[in-house]
Amino acid sequence: MTDALSAAQPRRTFRVGAAARPCTLVVCRGCCCGNPRKYPGTDHDWQLARLRAAAADSGGRLAVRVSDCLGPCDQANVIVVQPSTAGRQAGGRAQWVGFAMDDDCTDELLAWVTAGGPGLADPPAALELQFVPPPRDARAARR
Ligand code: FES
Repeated sequence: MTDALSAAQPRRTFRVGAAARPCTLVVCRGCCCGNPRKYPGTDHDWQLARLRAAAADSGGRLAVRVSDCLGPCDQANVIVVQPSTAGRQAGGRAQWVGFAMDDDCTDELLAWVTAGGPGLADPPAALELQFVPPPRDARAARR
């Protein structure tokens, strides 16, 4: 019976293209980043709430993910800015931001990703001062 139905139904082929990925903030919340006992001067929950609110208001152009420890704990809080699909196609690469603790840094991160993020917009100059190498690049530089 099933075979008869299958034979009677034309096969449908669905082509699923890769969905365009939004610019994404990967927010480290591991052992050090976001830890109020280690960094009591920052409202880490407020920072994450601001980032999530911006993503919710972005119409799908910005996403926020929370990660366990990304590696460079001595540079907490670490946030990785991943380019959107369009940003990657324009040459943008993931950018690691360290010491992302204060409201100014959060403002600059949001300004950058709202403008398009890596590959599509230049980062604020002050934010560039907080760029840190990803762990594998940092290890290679120490050799
Ligand atoms: S907890 Fe964020 S880098 Fe380790």
